[in-house]
Amino acid sequence: MVKEKTFSRLTQAACEAALIAGELLRQGFGSQFKVSSKEGRHNLVTEYDTKAEQAILAHLKKAASTSSFLAEESGATGQLGDLLWVVDPLDGTVNFAHNIPFFSVSIALEEKGDIVSGVVYHPHSNELFVAEKGEGAFLNGKKMQVSSVSRLEQSILATGFPYNLADNPFHCIEHFIDIVKLGIPIRKLGSAALDLAYTAAGRFEGFFAVGLSPWDCAAGVLLIQEAGGQVSHWNEKYFSIHSRLPILATNGRIHKQTASILHKL
Ligand code: IPD
Ligand code: CA
Ligand code: CA
Repeated sequence: MVKEKTFSRLTQAACEAALIAGELLRQGFGSQFKVSSKEGRHNLVTEYDTKAEQAILAHLKKAASTSSFLAEESGATGQLGDLLWVVDPLDGTVNFAHNIPFFSVSIALEEKGDIVSGVVYHPHSNELFVAEKGEGAFLNGKKMQVSSVSRLEQSILATGFPYNLADNPFHCIEHFIDIVKLGIPIRKLGSAALDLAYTAAGRFEGFFAVGLSPWDCAAGVLLIQEAGGQVSHWNEKYFSIHSRLPILATNGRIHKQTASILHKL
């Protein structure tokens, strides 16, 4: 029998919180719910974003009463200390609001600035992606690895657009065209956290985007690193989840080649 991975108490708490929020989202999916717009016309928020976030924070507070939070809907809260939970209760709100079942819950834990736990949950497929620093990355308890494809021409990539796409930040439209011109399959599925988790699971060879918030990518970054992949700025330098700069996350093997396309202008 294959022994399932056991995690640290706080990673376990993040998994539980993601499952609780996922159940709420499953119940709300397809129902009549309130939807409103945030700063951008297409940046939606539903009552389920808020409900799921409240449930996650309540659960995590029980597990670590002295931690602080950076959560999409409630911002920065809690006591300042070594532990910071970075939470996106519903990544892919536009999909959720349009009855498209590609959305996720993303929870990461930073300890003194280092991401030590990362959990992404896809309620629709009941897939739980978990990484713990130095311990590897797991899909429903089984170890996962990035793909072994080493040529960009044989790759499938995922991307996402920021809500201010019309401003063309970082010339992302031209860079998207450069990648499209390669003629390889490109997917834009609408949940950055899940795109990163899929890359960690070897379903995509890589993911690129601009302007992500910390809660979109914190858990996914650790998933990629612990699954043997590579994360950087498009210029191959260090990427900080708090920077909102361009991100390239790949299986490592196609990283240089992809970065050389994304970095040229
Ligand atoms: C968005 C999704 C989308 C990405 C956007 C994010 P939200 O998060 O991850 O795929 O392209 O940049 O803001 O608003 O659905 O939580
Ligand atoms: Ca998000
Ligand atoms: Ca969100």
